[in-house]
Amino acid sequence: MFIANTGMCEPGDSAELAMLDIYLPMMKSAAIISAGRLGLFEALARGPLTLALLADKINSSIQGTVTLVDFLVAMGYLEKQGELFSNAASTQRWFTSAGQVDYTPGLLWTQEAWFMMGTLTDAVRSGTPEKTLWDAMVEKPRLGHLFASYMGAFALDLGPDLLRHVPVAAGHYRLLDLGGSHGLHSIRFCQHYPQLSAVIVDLPSALMDTASTIAQKQLSERIRISPGNLLDHDWGSGLDLVFYFSVAHNHTAEENRLVIRRIGASLNPGGLLVIHEYLAETELSQFHAAFRLTLLLETGTQIYRHEDYSNWLTAAGFSSVSRIDLEPREKGSLILARR
Ligand SMILES: C[S@@+](CC[C@H](N)C(=O)[O-])C[C@H]1O[C@@H](n2cnc3c(N)ncnc32)[C@H](O)[C@@H]1O
Repeated sequence: MFIANTGMCEPGDSAELAMLDIYLPMMKSAAIISAGRLGLFEALARGPLTLALLADKINSSIQGTVTLVDFLVAMGYLEKQGELFSNAASTQRWFTSAGQVDYTPGLLWTQEAWFMMGTLTDAVRSGTPEKTLWDAMVEKPRLGHLFASYMGAFALDLGPDLLRHVPVAAGHYRLLDLGGSHGLHSIRFCQHYPQLSAVIVDLPSALMDTASTIAQKQLSERIRISPGNLLDHDWGSGLDLVFYFSVAHNHTAEENRLVIRRIGASLNPGGLLVIHEYLAETELSQFHAAFRLTLLLETGTQIYRHEDYSNWLTAAGFSSVSRIDLEPREKGSLILARR
């Protein structure tokens, strides 16, 4: 049976079709990733092309291009009218520079994640990754660059929600962006609130392009990068605003308890901590369950419940804790806590 809202086939529904649920998602991912790597969606971003022109633009054979585009048309990623191929509206919106957010870096990252998934069986057996993502990035700096670009695409998508929901006060001057990576959240808030200056703390692997991005926005005087491990980094005190965005799921419960306690101690009275996370619910959605499995493989950590955050925040002296669930739900939740 095909489940409309997930796009998946239910396992075991039909003995003849059992492999479709494995084969089709594999081919679908492979085709979309290849299109991203070839620049095929971007090649169509300015308008429809014939097969010959498209093949030429992506530097590929006619035979290979037609075989790929036929499948992309069948999946609804491309459209064909007469001899012309074009991006479907959602492809144009999410996978080209002409759209709302270009998630092509996510396609490039997924190519790397694909190889890593080869070690999932071992991670399940041992209950822990053979090598964490962060160690892999030290060995292969290219991974750090790709991951930060992918997180940057998410940040562009999430940015308007954050501006809408995070109440920065006129008396808030100093922002600490823990695990701030690409720097786009600090940049957005500093552009919007001229009184703010920011420090971004992240592992060196995540900060390779950050200083140049900040310089391009002419914010080098207000945003500083501070490479280091946030678990033992001296990030100072007298802060007004702390971002802990999508970082808690990369740490153990005990590490988060200690980090939140240190954040509490370094915030000024009236200061605000904002956490962005994917919260564990009593019943796991397919997305949350898949994300937990990814974390098992990549960092050996997990997602936590809202109750866990509340307990850590209360113990750290935060007075009011509120939760905002973003839409669509796959965008995660915000937890706002005041000192
Ligand atoms: C999922 S990404 C989120 C990036 C960014 N905050 C955002 O929301 O787009 C997690 C980030 O946390 C960083 N990180 C993980 N563990 C860290 C640690 N112990 N110290 C510093 N940064 C860490 C990673 O390098 C990565 O940039």
